Amino acid sequence: MKKLKIADGIHLLTMNVEDMLFEGIWEIANGVTLNSYIVQGEKTAIIDGVIGWDGVPETLYRSLAEIGVDPQKIDYLVVNHMEPDHSGWMANFRKIKDDFTVICREKAAKLVSSFYGETGIRIMKEGDTLDLGKGKVLSFHPVPNVHWPDTMYTYERSTGTLFSCDMFGAFGRMGEHCFDDELTPEEVAFFEAEGIRYYSNVMATFTTSLRKAIEKAKTLEIKTIAPGHGPVYRQNPQKIIDDYSRFSRYAEGAGKNEVTILWGSMYGMTAKAVAHVEAVLQRKGVKYNKLEMPLAGDSEVVAAVFKAAGIIIAAPTYEYKLFPPVAAALDELGRKRITGKLAFRFGSYGWSGGAEKELKEIMERNNMKWEFIESVEFEGAPKKEDLMKVEAGVLQLIEKMKEKVVE
Ligand SMILES: Cc1cc2nc3c(=O)[nH]c(=O)nc-3n(C[C@H](O)[C@H](O)[C@H](O)COP(=O)(O)O)c2cc1C
Ligand SMILES: [Fe+2]
Ligand SMILES: [Fe+2]
Repeated sequence: MKKLKIADGIHLLTMNVEDMLFEGIWEIANGVTLNSYIVQGEKTAIIDGVIGWDGVPETLYRSLAEIGVDPQKIDYLVVNHMEPDHSGWMANFRKIKDDFTVICREKAAKLVSSFYGETGIRIMKEGDTLDLGKGKVLSFHPVPNVHWPDTMYTYERSTGTLFSCDMFGAFGRMGEHCFDDELTPEEVAFFEAEGIRYYSNVMATFTTSLRKAIEKAKTLEIKTIAPGHGPVYRQNPQKIIDDYSRFSRYAEGAGKNEVTILWGSMYGMTAKAVAHVEAVLQRKGVKYNKLEMPLAGDSEVVAAVFKAAGIIIAAPTYEYKLFPPVAAALDELGRKRITGKLAFRFGSYGWSGGAEKELKEIMERNNMKWEFIESVEFEGAPKKEDLMKVEAGVLQLIEKMKEKVVE
């Protein structure tokens, strides 16, 4: 666990977590950080704790001791959001200390008591404050449905620090550099990509609420953004606010100037047309991502579709429906409320087709409002004229996606 000073009396404690499925679903190939913050006045508060895994609370206590904070002297546990990646250690803490107060919203209070049996809770509403002494004053600002209904921002007035919890967070492990001004250009690119993966995998469903949270952040005088996952922004907090605004548009159909090909093929018929599409995209100098189903993981698929301005779905008919792993991926995108994408589908069939019908059903069922270039279906192997039709569809997509590009 790394320990870094953010300001006098404010520290970050951060650990990298790897080899887990985040939320039990998302493979986090590049890990994720769990950030906790200590604010010390005369009283001491810990904002966002850590997960409750074996050995983790003990590591937190040791790290606290190393920055001169006796865990026994922690007065307040500020629970910005009750999800166990932030609060899981609470039950362990109760074993070593019996007098602390949990600070949270009413919605979180119910969760804190049902998950951990805690009752020593002080409920905060919009604008309520907690004076820790020595000039450190925390104020609390609900941001409902920034992931869960219980979430709030905590803001420290004297330093203008926003403890934003999941908001403004990213996947990705941190090395030596934890502050925005220390990041190399490669690390900036890494955390942008990991931010997109985090937003699309974890937060996209709540885009409307995230927009409100962005507006709320704008009402506070922010000098530093200190999220629960990923780097701390002290030089340019506006950067992550702008990134999140842009990501919220990706959730509603905008995207980078790139194409994502989501494809699958049983016996290589649809694959032949995919190869042709790749040649067309290369000829046109269009950047593209290619995800073969079912080999590509959900986390990668959701992120790659989310961030692209143009989507190509290449999948055959299977038992009168769409090739199942591609159908499942589209359903997942629907659950994440990734709407308004510009897309083009083609695929092979044997005798009856059916893929196209299911594609429409998936779009309708999830109210996805994707805009489709007319699909191309071919019997068996694609003939020259089929490839020409596919090429025409791709060229239309490239032309139309210009309206969707937001970099
Ligand atoms: C398990 C299986 C189920 C299939 N179901 C259908 C079907 O319901 N209707 C149809 O027209 N073709 C069906 N086909 C035929 C495929 O759509 C056809 O072979 C197509 O060329 C496969 O393209 P691919 O090689 O890109 O997977 C099925 C093929 C398989 C192997
Ligand atoms: Fe969360
Ligand atoms: Fe989280």
